Amino acid sequence: MHVRDAVASRYSCRAFLPKPVPEPIVREIVEQAARAPSAGNMQPWYVHAVAGERIEALKAELRPRMATELPKGEGVEYTIYPPPMIEPYKERAFTVGELLYQSIGVPREDKPARYKQYARNYEFFGAPVALFFVREKVHGAAQWADIGGYLQTVALLARGHGLHTCPQQAWVSFHKTVRSFLKLPDNLMVYSGMALGYEDPDAPINRWRSPRAPLETFATFSGFTS
Ligand SMILES: Cc1cc2nc3c(=O)[nH]c(=O)nc-3n(C[C@H](O)[C@H](O)[C@H](O)COP(=O)(O)O)c2cc1C
Repeated sequence: MHVRDAVASRYSCRAFLPKPVPEPIVREIVEQAARAPSAGNMQPWYVHAVAGERIEALKAELRPRMATELPKGEGVEYTIYPPPMIEPYKERAFTVGELLYQSIGVPREDKPARYKQYARNYEFFGAPVALFFVREKVHGAAQWADIGGYLQTVALLARGHGLHTCPQQAWVSFHKTVRSFLKLPDNLMVYSGMALGYEDPDAPINRWRSPRAPLETFATFSGFTS
């Protein structure tokens, strides 16, 4: 697959087929993604890949808690949307939420239905593989960004294997449970989860795409001669 097609076809997949992904493929993706650049070549990422009985155990632990603990969960270990949410970012986040829930016919005011869908995060949307991206607490903005680049490299390599992904910061809301599940030492924390597997192409939630702002709104070009 050409890298352009990998970029164009990546989207946040929120319904997966139960088809397993063999461990060698996951290992290859996780290893190759470490070719991502990082400041000073610090490679500040840690990855926990979870499948099979392990993933089922985590899902089973959280499932009965969904009805009472959403949307707050255990609180967050870091602020994902630092206030104030200013424009145009606020509107973009609002729009993507609207499009997501519209795709499955859930109106804005139907909170129980929205939470039910949101809870699918904690089933990894049915994906057979879960990745957790973990960082050193003492690291700073540059290393956060590096882990983001690593995460995107995983997502693109996944496309090369016919796989899809959904990054999942939703897991930050259950950071205590994840910490104990992964046996994370105190110096580390979860940056994001990620669902990995084969997309369900017929699921309505997979049949829409998030919009992007036009090029002129975020880029300038100067000095080019051809
Ligand atoms: C670090 C990160 C965390 C995310 N966390 C979640 C999440 O918890 N649940 C979810 O459904 N989508 C999550 N997303 C997906 C975003 O909503 C999505 O990337 C954005 O709306 C753009 O859509 P696209 O990925 O389909 O192009 C996350 C994306 C990123 C980059």
